Amino acid sequence: MLITRTISETRQAIAQARAQGKRIGFVPTMGYLHEGHLQLIDIAKEHSDFVVVSIFVNPTQFGPTEDYASYPRDFERDKKLCEARGTDLIFAPEVSEMYPERSLITFQIEKLADHLCGARRPGHFNGVVLVVSKLFNIVQPDIAVFGQKDAQQLIIIKRLVQDLNFSVKIISASTVRESDGLAMSSRNVYLSPEQRAQSTVLYQSLQRARALIESGERDAEKIISEIQKLIATASEAKIDYIEIVNVRDLQPVERLDGQILIALAVYFGKARLIDNIVLEISGDRVREIPALP
Ligand code: PAJ
Repeated sequence: MLITRTISETRQAIAQARAQGKRIGFVPTMGYLHEGHLQLIDIAKEHSDFVVVSIFVNPTQFGPTEDYASYPRDFERDKKLCEARGTDLIFAPEVSEMYPERSLITFQIEKLADHLCGARRPGHFNGVVLVVSKLFNIVQPDIAVFGQKDAQQLIIIKRLVQDLNFSVKIISASTVRESDGLAMSSRNVYLSPEQRAQSTVLYQSLQRARALIESGERDAEKIISEIQKLIATASEAKIDYIEIVNVRDLQPVERLDGQILIALAVYFGKARLIDNIVLEISGDRVREIPALP
């Protein structure tokens, strides 16, 4: 497994692989890897011959009061996990390599960042789209894998690729969970034992929403208020948002129909946890979509 720190050595190593006729697969991450990340690597391996994982805690996607400085980092551990999973190259640049100067060119995202995390973390998705564009230009992958755990991010990246004609195919991966349902996240490490025990309420509330919808409920407000009630039973939980939007343009829906995203963000102490489910509703049929096509 190769490890590169600079853009030029990364480009060189990847050019060599490409010259051997290899298809390049890419998994962008901020490190502190868990099984969720590692399954993205597995999927990348299925679709390519040379898998690049980037590990970069991207400062431009963190707000001034967010956890950039304290975001967990453990490169030695990440290295072993990547190697064991058959990664070919880790690109782990310093901030100064990715941003020698503050970028004067930025993105404007219409509609897709108006709600959910986009509304709560102003500028967040501009930072994501900026760094992912830079990484796509550096790695020039044939395919890149993103998790549906961050559904809004996945949908924005798909649209970025479409709107800017990046020649990469985006593959989505379903959310990997702990055995009690908590979605894996690098930020779960912030949870106290008590908060960790209570955090299962997130997935439980999404499952409750799904059951209500399966039994015929189509009123978004009612479902949101049921989720709210269940989460309120966890004493340490502070709800940031609970929203139901359509998958197409991430705008709120009142009546559930077609492909919808039920998404929530909840603070447990300093940990801001997000989770979601995507459902397809047509008439009285309800189907979960674990990985958007
Ligand atoms: P990070 O939070 O490290 O996540 C990297 C990738 O792993 C994302 O595509 C995310 O959706 C996926 N992922 C995280 N937890 C997952 C889980 N439990 N199951 C499945 N996939 C999961 O997302 C970012 O980093 C950054 O915003 C990045 C795209 C790297 C840009 O900086």
